Amino acid sequence: MRSAAPGRGLKGRIGVPGDKSVSHRALMFGALAVGTTEITGLLEGEDVLRTAAAMRALGAEVERLGEGHWRVAGRGVGGLVEPADVLDMGNSGTAARLICGLLAGHPLFAVLTGDASLRRRPMRRVTEPLLATGARFTGRAGGRLPLAVEGAAEPMPLDYEVPVPSAQVKSALLLAGLCARGTTRVTEREATRDHTENMLRHFGATVRVAAEGNRRVIELEGQPELRAAPVAVPADPSSAAFPLVAALLVPGSEVTVAGVGLNPLRTGLFDTLREMGGGLSVTNARVEGGEPVGDLTASFSALRGVDVPASRAPSMIDEYPVLAVAAAFARGTSRFRGLAELRVKESDRLAATVALLAANGVRAEVEGDDLIIARDGAPAPGGGTVETHMDHRIAMSALVMGLASTRPVAVDDTGFIDTSFPGFTGLMNGLAGGPAIAAPPSGLRE
Ligand code: S3P
Repeated sequence: MRSAAPGRGLKGRIGVPGDKSVSHRALMFGALAVGTTEITGLLEGEDVLRTAAAMRALGAEVERLGEGHWRVAGRGVGGLVEPADVLDMGNSGTAARLICGLLAGHPLFAVLTGDASLRRRPMRRVTEPLLATGARFTGRAGGRLPLAVEGAAEPMPLDYEVPVPSAQVKSALLLAGLCARGTTRVTEREATRDHTENMLRHFGATVRVAAEGNRRVIELEGQPELRAAPVAVPADPSSAAFPLVAALLVPGSEVTVAGVGLNPLRTGLFDTLREMGGGLSVTNARVEGGEPVGDLTASFSALRGVDVPASRAPSMIDEYPVLAVAAAFARGTSRFRGLAELRVKESDRLAATVALLAANGVRAEVEGDDLIIARDGAPAPGGGTVETHMDHRIAMSALVMGLASTRPVAVDDTGFIDTSFPGFTGLMNGLAGGPAIAAPPSGLRE
């Protein structure tokens, strides 16, 4: 596949699929609740479908009623059953890590695996703190998948300070804490996305959150009775990022994405794009299903370089590849600080982003954990082929770049886009008014 300048602006009002983080959690909480949870707007991407299958294998009834409309009949906290087979989490780190927490609190044996990308990713960050519940884990070197889990019959509550900024680790510990008697206490040094805390409350658990200096302390009362509750999943801001950045870069564009989740712990990219001079506005701001949402409109803008502090990284951790593409079109130097966590995503995203830019004539440098991109405001040259390394966000970032660069940009594999953003190509081509993203003309090598 490759993308090329559409020869006109991107225009239109679109919806993008449901939030990946909220979708995983809705299925898991539905499985742990008493009663039937109805979910609307669920992301039907590969990653979330893996979670749906895992919840089924653990004894919940999970049923698809229509597009994005799902029903989960739960088993109650502590009621999950031993799965008959290996749980394959595909490409999804969120599914694998959160399910480690769920399994830790149940007296059962399970084996987790995933695709080649997931099998490379660190799991000790969740399994090590979970040992204190009484659960046991046996994995490959470095604690990697496949991983065997023996859950605890009487799980102990945890008191743990998470050393890395990770909503997945925090959430895994809180999920284990649901099954433990007493109070589970998780401290984070920097606030990360709080969908787990919000959804715990939504399902009736008692959660206290206190700020202690920069730290955020979350306390959960164990063994609550979670009650089924409807979940309306907002559109994923991490997916909205792609058409919105494309609109900022392609001359003559104006694109609106409707109903985007605007949880303040997710919106670092939008703040950053505004600091770069990006024309980005929110209309129709409202609260839906306990999460703030709004319609976001982006229009073509001359961008300038930006210095993004490390403290903002947790609120935009998945958005750096596409932000780097925006910086490749900006005038001046951009510096994104504190990106160590990018090295352990679906790919080493720091290296993959540098390579994406380099293949398309844009030099980027890594200094420590910072990424630096210095440009003169001219369109990026393009003309390269990007290796996606089984990483959906690298693939989509490269395709966004090709829509605005002087020459087309090709990617080696688009299959993984479906993990988070099924329909991406069709939606972008709709905005472009033609096949701006397509297989290369025959006879040309990708
Ligand atoms: C997620 C947390 C983040 C993010 C991922 C989704 C979540 O990962 O990158 O796409 O749903 O909790 P980390 O917890 O590893 O930062």
